[in-house]
Amino acid sequence: MKDKKKIVKEYKEKIKELKKHNKLYFSDDNPKITDSDYDLIKKEIIDMEKQFPFLEKKSFSSSNIVGSKPSNKFQKIKHLKAMLSLSNAFNINDIVDFLKKVNNFLNTESDFINLFAEPKIDGISASLTYEKGNLIKGLSRGDGVTGEDILENLKTIKSIPLKLKDPKIPNIMEIRCEIFISKKEFSKIKEKFANPRNAAGGSLRQKDPKQTSKIPLEYFAYGFGEINPSIFSKQSEFLNQISKWGFSTNPLSREIKSINDIEKYHSEIDNLRSSLNYDIDGLVLKVNDLNLQKRLGNTSNSPRWAIAYKFSAEKAVTKIKDIIIQVGRTGAITPVAKVEPVTVGGVVVSNATLHNEDEITRKDIRIGDTIEIQRAGDVIPQVLKVDISKRSIKSKKFKFPKNCLCGAVTKKEVSKNTKKEDAVRRCTKGYDCKFIAREKLKHLVSKEALNIDGLGKKVIDQFWALHLIKEPSNIFNLDYKKIKELEGWGDLSVKNLQQAIEKSKNLSLERFIYSIGIRHIGQENAKIIAQFFSSVKEFTKLFQLKYRKKILQSLAELDGIGDTQIQSINNFFSKDQNIRIVSNLISHLNVIDFIVKNSEGKFFNRRLMFTGGFKRMSRSEAKSIAENNGAKVLGSISKKLDILVVGDTKPTKKKIDQAKEFNIRIITEKEWNDILNS
Ligand code: IVH
Repeated sequence: MKDKKKIVKEYKEKIKELKKHNKLYFSDDNPKITDSDYDLIKKEIIDMEKQFPFLEKKSFSSSNIVGSKPSNKFQKIKHLKAMLSLSNAFNINDIVDFLKKVNNFLNTESDFINLFAEPKIDGISASLTYEKGNLIKGLSRGDGVTGEDILENLKTIKSIPLKLKDPKIPNIMEIRCEIFISKKEFSKIKEKFANPRNAAGGSLRQKDPKQTSKIPLEYFAYGFGEINPSIFSKQSEFLNQISKWGFSTNPLSREIKSINDIEKYHSEIDNLRSSLNYDIDGLVLKVNDLNLQKRLGNTSNSPRWAIAYKFSAEKAVTKIKDIIIQVGRTGAITPVAKVEPVTVGGVVVSNATLHNEDEITRKDIRIGDTIEIQRAGDVIPQVLKVDISKRSIKSKKFKFPKNCLCGAVTKKEVSKNTKKEDAVRRCTKGYDCKFIAREKLKHLVSKEALNIDGLGKKVIDQFWALHLIKEPSNIFNLDYKKIKELEGWGDLSVKNLQQAIEKSKNLSLERFIYSIGIRHIGQENAKIIAQFFSSVKEFTKLFQLKYRKKILQSLAELDGIGDTQIQSINNFFSKDQNIRIVSNLISHLNVIDFIVKNSEGKFFNRRLMFTGGFKRMSRSEAKSIAENNGAKVLGSISKKLDILVVGDTKPTKKKIDQAKEFNIRIITEKEWNDILNS
């Protein structure tokens, strides 16, 4: 056995090493070793302390090292109500469309539904949960369903109340807010971050709250998730009340009573924008009446009762160095301008999208041109216009390549309805084109699909280049030994990746259908289709030609599924290769049957169908109410149908006759309303 002196020496050295890395990490913000290597040193110290108890009595024991680096993982906690995102409007026409949709859904003909408007803060969203007035949880948005426990970091923001005192405080209250760093504070640390939003995010995600407190953060509360009992009837009333309870709310918010008000408020706040001490990127318009908000509900991603009305984007002038093409997962060929790097709204930009061939022809965009670009939010910057006066006399028209990067000839589709040629060129090789295949993989692992943490776009590129992944099923047979040896990978990151992949195997049928990446099948359509099939076994009947035609006929009758979707599904499953790839994928997954949302509602386990228009609500709302009450809504009459609900306006006679033939219960609009009110 080594003598005591030697052991103490070795131990002291390790402690010194740990302290050095603590300093590099905490004070200098400049870590020199990976998390796993750091953990290894720490483990060796703890192991020594266990083996040689006399070490623990030394004043330099590891437990005495202040600021020991905490685990690099925040605990994951589910939100009581999901945190959604917002759909965007860029001009008043988009707003008019939004209002139309609201009116259609509610089936109201009111001139104007009162709105509440707030500045849209460009920060990081967080959720604060109060139980009987005590702040008990503080979560990041995460994937919207599950957030990360950042309570201790949030507590460093002094203006967040820890305790609320008022007998009126609901038992449970999730307050949603946007965390930001003021422009003034940002200017002090601007070398370290690309923009204030990143700085706020970086600060909030510090593993050590002490680090968070070093970058002073602020917040505005703008909404709520779960509230029980629900005591508010308007958004304006809610904000008023929570402001009295001590929350910080935006003083620029106000009620909106007409379309003119919207335009006025939009330009007023846009003019104020540069003088505000925080970044905003638009307005958020919300239906003020909370009862109406409840009726409107959500689509899969965003509430139907709110929209973000963006400000016009930031612009800059630069020069096109080259024009290249990119291939999307649907085969769409997108031209991209490689530009001389320029800062637009605090971000360095070196690429701008040129959309498609027609756009290049229309604007006569050429390599070498001086152009104006604009950047709105997180989207890729666009080319606004060309400054022809700066064009060289030698410049030549850009010849759009007719072939995909894989070499195949690209095609423009002709619309069946309008007989017009599509503006977009496409490669039609599907998985046979390696560029499409790689993009399809990126879609498959994305947040809304398999949602594999640690397997983002860049990692797919890396694994693809090394031939570690060629098609979806390879994700489940990765060569982890090889990955461990790659730059940027270590024991810990590989273990995390393995776990994330394992976790992704359990997914709902709707997520699975979305993941496959059939063109024109987004999340909403995937949900409708999942409801139709109920199980993956039923879904796979689409693989067989003998069933496909009939299934597609039934699918076509579903609300929300049109010719375009049917065509696309047919195209997809007409390729044997797609069937093979999807079948292989299924063999690794546990696809969970479509679950009816509410198992207690008035129509639990009943199959309902609607025909005709309704007076008090739109058909969309009727369907949404039925689903919220546990029903499965069908798109066509079948023997399995339990109830056909017949609206007063123009019901389809054929459907009623068919229902009678099958002895299906038929109820009128009045009876439907009576059941809802009972
Ligand atoms: S209301 C989606 N109001 O914008 C649920 N959001 O793009 C309703 N945001 O995640 C959101 N200021 O983080 C709302 N006054 C405001 C907001 C706001 C900023 C953020 C929020 C949300 C994101 C949606």
